[in-house]
Amino acid sequence: MSTDAHEEQSPYGSGTRAQVPPTGVGAETSGATPTPRKVRIPHLHAMKAEGRRWAMLTAYDMYAAQIFDEAGIPVLLVGDSAGNNVYGYETTVPVTLEEMIPLVRAVSSAARRALVVADLPFGSYGGSVEQGFASAVRLMKEGLAHAVKLEGGTAMVPLVTALTDAGIPVMAHVGFTPQSEHQLGGYRVQGRGDAADALVDEARALQDAGAFAVVLEMVPAPVAARVTEVLTIPTIGIGAGNGTDAQVLVWSDFAGLRSGKAPRFVKKYADLRGTLLEAARTYAADVESGAFPDTEHSFDS
Ligand code: KIV
Repeated sequence: MSTDAHEEQSPYGSGTRAQVPPTGVGAETSGATPTPRKVRIPHLHAMKAEGRRWAMLTAYDMYAAQIFDEAGIPVLLVGDSAGNNVYGYETTVPVTLEEMIPLVRAVSSAARRALVVADLPFGSYGGSVEQGFASAVRLMKEGLAHAVKLEGGTAMVPLVTALTDAGIPVMAHVGFTPQSEHQLGGYRVQGRGDAADALVDEARALQDAGAFAVVLEMVPAPVAARVTEVLTIPTIGIGAGNGTDAQVLVWSDFAGLRSGKAPRFVKKYADLRGTLLEAARTYAADVESGAFPDTEHSFDS
């Protein structure tokens, strides 16, 4: 057994889990064998206390999860943005729990270190606390998620309380909440002007109910900074400026898979669409010309 002082043997089986604050870059290694170090909620709270910022990315499959985990991204979100980014829907509204669970399971199974948060999709929790509780349990048991995320303000307080009382960590999500797009009248910045105080109150109520973090989507930067100042739990911004504790981007946006115009808050860190387009064209041309497969990629008799 490793003598790594940070490593802890699970009392419930042969697996090992590690308890080390994340560094923000790649898993640390102990000698030649990389030691998985699990990111836990107290690590995120410690980073807030220390003023250390961190990045969250969405992931919907094994490869993305492995790569982002290896890159040291401490939290992976299996967002219901899978609706637009996996299933080809126009919004997140049609996404079902049945569609989320296999994606969550793929990401949770692939991530060795990151905390995996699964979105409760529209229609799976808004009806009652009982409905939300049953859906969250499915994401934890069948999806193997480490935490769930839900959209909404004060109305979500009873569900957040019930979930956290039962040991299910909750990430809250306020500001622009895509599942309520039709109610909100489209993609609009939330919390401007007089609405700022209400947004701060909602975030505080969710924290008091037990949420371990809160996503602030499309909120004016000064308002997001104010929420961050007021809360003791981490705030995670998307289109919320630079004053939050963490940031989140949808991975297909950040990696440049999307065609057409991205929202203003998206920064493209790669051009995977261009790379794949070029690769697919070259492959097709090679097949058409007979250049592929060559002898190197064929078997002898
Ligand atoms: O579903 C999602 O990807 C999200 C993030 C944009 C926060 O909720």
